[in-house]
Amino acid sequence: MAHLVFSKISLSMQTTKVPAAVRERLLRSARKVMKSAYAPFSNFRVGAAILTAKGQIFVGCNVENSSYGMTNCAERTAIFSAVAKLGPELEIRAVAVANDHGVPCSPCGACRQVIYEFGPRAVIFYQGKHGTKESLVTDLLPEGFRLK
Ligand code: THU
Repeated sequence: MAHLVFSKISLSMQTTKVPAAVRERLLRSARKVMKSAYAPFSNFRVGAAILTAKGQIFVGCNVENSSYGMTNCAERTAIFSAVAKLGPELEIRAVAVANDHGVPCSPCGACRQVIYEFGPRAVIFYQGKHGTKESLVTDLLPEGFRLK
């Protein structure tokens, strides 16, 4: 009995696998929007694309500022633009990140927390040492903070 309950819980926690074609489309979208980045201070252009539970894609790039701390990362730009369009019901299924240096680049801590808010089961595709890596947000951000 306990075994049945546990397997039900773990099933409901499962992430739906993102098909390879969708992953490639997300990565392409991230690479494309990367070119819009405003990054005169770091010269490090980043693009991000998010996939919603309903299959829509939203993109964003990093937007830097003379007051460095005001910089907005590509991931958060994409998520905030999705909320502006869809409203607070946004549910993130996947996130893809690309950078113009071809170097390993996973979402920063702040972005992990923002991804977690709208996609606690989201999968993230990003540049690792040896090509594209895939991680669950919960592996990049264990014990993410939640109020609701
Ligand atoms: N950056 C992102 O946009 N996303 C990341 O995942 C890592 C860092 C940006 C912030 C800043 O504009 C530049 O990259 C260098 O840190």
